[in-house]
Amino acid sequence: MGTLAHHRPTGTQQALVGPETLGSARFRADHGVRYAYAAGSMYKAVASEDLVVRMGRAGLLSFFGAGGLRPEQVVAAIGRFRRELGDGPYGVNLLASAENPAREEEQVDVLLRHRVRLVEAASFVLPTPSLVRYRLAGLRRDRDGSVHVPNRVMAKVSRPEVAQAFLAPAPRALVEHLLDRGRITADEAELAQYVPLADDLCAEADSGGHTDQRQLVIVLPDTVRQRDRAARGFPPAARVRVGAAGGLGDPHAVAAAFVLGADFVLTGSINQCTVECGTSDRVKDMLQTAEAHDMATVPAGDMLETGARAQVFRRGLFYPARANKLYELYRRYDSLEDLDPATAEQIQRRYFGRSFEEVWQETREYYAQANPASLELAERDPKHRMLLVFKAYFVHSIRSAMGGSERHLVDYQINCGPAMGALNGYLRGTGREDWRDRHVDDLAELLMRGAADLLSERFAAWAAPDAWRQP
Ligand SMILES: Cc1cc2nc3c(=O)[nH]c(=O)nc-3n(C[C@H](O)[C@H](O)[C@H](O)COP(=O)(O)O)c2cc1C
Repeated sequence: MGTLAHHRPTGTQQALVGPETLGSARFRADHGVRYAYAAGSMYKAVASEDLVVRMGRAGLLSFFGAGGLRPEQVVAAIGRFRRELGDGPYGVNLLASAENPAREEEQVDVLLRHRVRLVEAASFVLPTPSLVRYRLAGLRRDRDGSVHVPNRVMAKVSRPEVAQAFLAPAPRALVEHLLDRGRITADEAELAQYVPLADDLCAEADSGGHTDQRQLVIVLPDTVRQRDRAARGFPPAARVRVGAAGGLGDPHAVAAAFVLGADFVLTGSINQCTVECGTSDRVKDMLQTAEAHDMATVPAGDMLETGARAQVFRRGLFYPARANKLYELYRRYDSLEDLDPATAEQIQRRYFGRSFEEVWQETREYYAQANPASLELAERDPKHRMLLVFKAYFVHSIRSAMGGSERHLVDYQINCGPAMGALNGYLRGTGREDWRDRHVDDLAELLMRGAADLLSERFAAWAAPDAWRQP
């Protein structure tokens, strides 16, 4: 642990700030961790079992990338965490699935059945029945009269209306709905009014993956103010901690986040370029030389129809241009048959390496299992069929990157933000350029210690400017 070089204060001044005092003490106590720091989920176990176990053993929080995995894979991962980490610290990603609520239900069934006590909830636009069911399960009154909340929720937000929903109790209509169907008990329904939906709100700025590309200096103070306002009408909201994510790749950015008022920080992109991360060596080789400006924001494949955007690595890849092209075609045309022959030919040959018909056959088999309602719609509506075929390209591009396919190198979809470039810049010349020398807990140590040292140095200089005057 802590083997990476980090920023050290110059001179002989006393360190005023330590890594273990940055951020919220309640965050550290509630999650049982040494630092107010977390490594965020990355789909399909890119945030891998190894990553979670390594962080947990170091007394640090991380979230397993459960998105896109089959339930049995998630169950197996939880089993390993329980064996190797006991009760934690660790959490599992809970992804909203607006087009397939059954999938969300299934995720929550697994989490409750296997007593996972912390989730990182992401992509929620509004609270859903399954999210509320997770939050309310097991609510009870303790002897001292306080409400015991066994299931903790960290919600990732980048928009005020979503933050608002997580600072409030579960909507009454949803609580009634769950009670009527016997999904929660009368006690849980009654106590719901005293509990905000989240324990932690993570204000996400310009991050890798799905992003609204907001600026941290705006979105973080905004969310803190929103929390404080919410607490005036609903006092339990005062306890909801507000953290920062997006663009945190070096100690300077982490120090800035804490000065802006973050109760905790969460990183994503930088953890993708470590020994523990579950992507291919080829992707890690590319990322270890990435600069902050090597990123592009393109349509997000899994939400193509909504216009949502995701930030990806672009240097040397065709993927960003192809993602843009497919989105443009989806908007402009109503069916695959409407595409002009040259475009149709180009997409089939270059993007897919096979015909639309072949892609459709495979897609159909998948949706027959995964989402029959969507398949039914596609059989009736040619535009929806085109959407599902185009989405297959995005799935293929993730698989190619994760599998390290040499043949499909230019199609790699590598979700990543500028934080990666910041880390590489910071590590240049330290002997830690190679990802084989980067471990996820060491990065946490590097960022937190470095931030504490930077702040100590700055505060000392501001508190006693004369002592710092240059000769
Ligand atoms: C490759 C990659 C995959 C991601 N997948 C998910 C995911 O499945 N679920 C999720 O909640 N967040 C996901 N994220 C977002 C991260 O958890 C985190 O919030 C974000 O990366 C923080 O911003 P940063 O990349 O600037 O550090 C992903 C990020 C990356 C880079």
